[in-house]
Amino acid sequence: MKNLLSPSILAADFWNLGEQVRAVERGGASYLHVDVMDGVFVPSISFGMPILEALKRKTTLLLDVHLMIVEPERYIETVASKGADLINFHLEAAASPMEVIQKIRSLGKKVGITIKPATPIEALEPYLELVDMVLIMTVEPGFGGQALMPDCVEKVRQLRKLATERGILLDIEVDGGVKESNLEMILEAGANVIVAGSAIFGGNPEERTKLFVEKMTAMES
Ligand code: DX5
Ligand code: ZN
Repeated sequence: MKNLLSPSILAADFWNLGEQVRAVERGGASYLHVDVMDGVFVPSISFGMPILEALKRKTTLLLDVHLMIVEPERYIETVASKGADLINFHLEAAASPMEVIQKIRSLGKKVGITIKPATPIEALEPYLELVDMVLIMTVEPGFGGQALMPDCVEKVRQLRKLATERGILLDIEVDGGVKESNLEMILEAGANVIVAGSAIFGGNPEERTKLFVEKMTAMES
């Protein structure tokens, strides 16, 4: 499976957002992770449609939108029309995950379902055949720069095993606290899409992206 890097712009220097995106493009990133927070599902507020729209106009990276919002069904259409290519919504936030999945599909976008650290893999079982991706949070959503929770990596292992047993070619994305030092362990557990915020934008984003992409390519199975 191909390993893909999705740098999270939450950690970018917003004064220079355009240049920071160009830097991760040059470094070889595949996706761009866009964290939308509403101050209700998570304590913080980040950014929304105008940023998404601006990114879509200028970058060819796949826009991987992570909705940390309550009632995600209310915003799927707008997020899709502003340029999301992949829409990740939280299982915990949706009254009817099935309807959200169908809505995203009907708009021709990739579907990702996301779980917080306390949500078990079993909760995903009814949806596994219907989504393109599962995003496993390895920190409590809401803020960048936190330490990865190792128990969540076990959930990645469990999910990859389940997907393989069921014959599903599932993208498993990991988000929160990914660093050069734990990258190998996460890939080895079965993740193939990696979100990294502070590990990329905390240094020279082009160099950091190159380093991550090199490591990730070397570990492709
Ligand atoms: C946290 C966000 C993450 C965040 C990751 O709620 O979903 O995408 O940007 O940041 P790092 O990589 O710094 O933990
Ligand atoms: Zn995220």
